[in-house]
Amino acid sequence: MKILMVCLGNICRSPLAEGILKTKIEEKSLDWRVDSAGTGSWHIGELPDHRSIAVARKYSIDITYQRARQFSANDLDTFDLIFAMDAQNFQDILRFAKKEEHKNKVQLILNLVYPNGNRSVPDPYWDDDGFEDVFQMLDEACEQIIKQYLV
Ligand code: 4NP
Repeated sequence: MKILMVCLGNICRSPLAEGILKTKIEEKSLDWRVDSAGTGSWHIGELPDHRSIAVARKYSIDITYQRARQFSANDLDTFDLIFAMDAQNFQDILRFAKKEEHKNKVQLILNLVYPNGNRSVPDPYWDDDGFEDVFQMLDEACEQIIKQYLV
């Protein structure tokens, strides 16, 4: 299973989602690949945001090995599942998806927790206090990924 987490900048939400899911799959010794990317290009090559690093560290997850990269159309071939953090990310990814097979790989991550709810993980970039809530939402969603896709 190859899973890609996508947000806007690839410095706040998707690096957390990558780190949380990687930790869970390592605990279960699963042979899954997990990566993350941003639809935007502003932060390419950067470390995750210091507030994401801090909240991950609080839960003993190290995400400082990550460097931001931009989502590309090739990702639709490479990955089996692509999780968008919010509705805008979802739309931006779908613009690259010409084939039905590619469209079917893309979903809003919180729909795993709230089916058909179409909820977005709020962008915490402008809100120092939002990172804990984002961590908890993503932790719950990643737990669902394991439950739903572990065959
Ligand atoms: P992310 O958060 O998409 O969760 O990584 C953001 C990071 C940077 C910006 C916006 C959102 N920005 O405008 O630079």
